[in-house]
Amino acid sequence: MNDQGIENPGSRENLVEARDLKKWFPIQTGLLERLMARRVEHVHAVDGVSFNIRKGEVLGLAGESGSGKTTTGKLVIRLEEPTEGTVHFDGQDLGALKSEELRKMRRRMQVIFQDPMASLNPRMTIGEAIQHPLQIHFPKEASSHKEMIYDICDKVGLTPPQFFVDKYPHQVSGGQRQRVVIARALVTHPDLVLADEPIAMADVSVRALLLDLMIDLKNELNLTYLFITHDLATAKYICDRIGIMYLGRLVEIGDLRDVYSNPLNPYTHALLAAVPVPNPHHRRTETMPSGEIPDAINPPKGCRFHPRCTYAQASCSEVEPELRELKPGHFVACHYAEQFL
Ligand SMILES: Nc1ncnc2c1ncn2[C@@H]1O[C@H](COP(=O)(O)OP(=O)(O)OP(=O)(O)O)[C@@H](O)[C@H]1O
Ligand SMILES: [Mg+2]
Repeated sequence: MNDQGIENPGSRENLVEARDLKKWFPIQTGLLERLMARRVEHVHAVDGVSFNIRKGEVLGLAGESGSGKTTTGKLVIRLEEPTEGTVHFDGQDLGALKSEELRKMRRRMQVIFQDPMASLNPRMTIGEAIQHPLQIHFPKEASSHKEMIYDICDKVGLTPPQFFVDKYPHQVSGGQRQRVVIARALVTHPDLVLADEPIAMADVSVRALLLDLMIDLKNELNLTYLFITHDLATAKYICDRIGIMYLGRLVEIGDLRDVYSNPLNPYTHALLAAVPVPNPHHRRTETMPSGEIPDAINPPKGCRFHPRCTYAQASCSEVEPELRELKPGHFVACHYAEQFL
């Protein structure tokens, strides 16, 4: 067991094992400021995060804007180099791979970002966009590309494929564009898909359809998802387990049902209390704590949530809580979490 108490290190059940990940971004300042400053300041975007992603599961990462979700996702698939910490993917240390080995590994780790318009080249047809990863990862199988493109178009509901492949992104609907992005991510048959707010830009009417599609594709193609969202209702729909982030730290992680039915961190409590419920008889007693998220340049000493926490005691401003397992598979970083059991 490592210092953050994550279960099953080295388990073959795990596709990803992230350990003590940190990503600090230096703050860009002018030359004069740099010359005068005694030290370079950093944004502590991710600041000591450990978790596993089991093969075949959907692990959600949730938390308010700026909590470090996207940066964590990018560290997992090595779109960002960690400042510290390691990621093992299917048992291999990504940081130890040579560039050619990492390039090959990238076929197995694909990404779906939030904005299909921004992630598709407007001058490439849909067919060309979906073919692009095939040209990178399967250049020798060019004669099969068309079949592979048509096959994935069928799977994501761009049917009939011949109707879509010669069109440009602006010639199809927003929901169809997101299907193109999903097709492009899945055409190389990856193992892990980082889905970063994949339905946030879609029209409300097609969000549930896209989520259902992602669930069907996961089952059909044996995928594992790291699913990032700030929306706990969306997470409830698709995730098996969920990690809650606050200011660069993981503050709670466990099976979705356990975390939602018995949140052990006051921050998770507050996030869940702020989710609107359709049942008028269900009374909410709490609201989101007031105050902005403190800045990630100088995070508060001790527990980072203590300035906003209604349960904070003196020690919370002194000692940073580590994740600990309070119930089987349910980890929380709070000194006083026992009161919520
Ligand atoms: N390339 C970068 N350079 C400098 N700071 C960055 C960079 N990328 C992210 N940050 C900062 O790191 C922190 C975490 O950002 P990140 O995008 O990971 O958060 P997030 O949880 O995904 O937020 P959102 O819900 O808004 O997408 C923020 O303070 C952000 O401003
Ligand atoms: Mg983000």
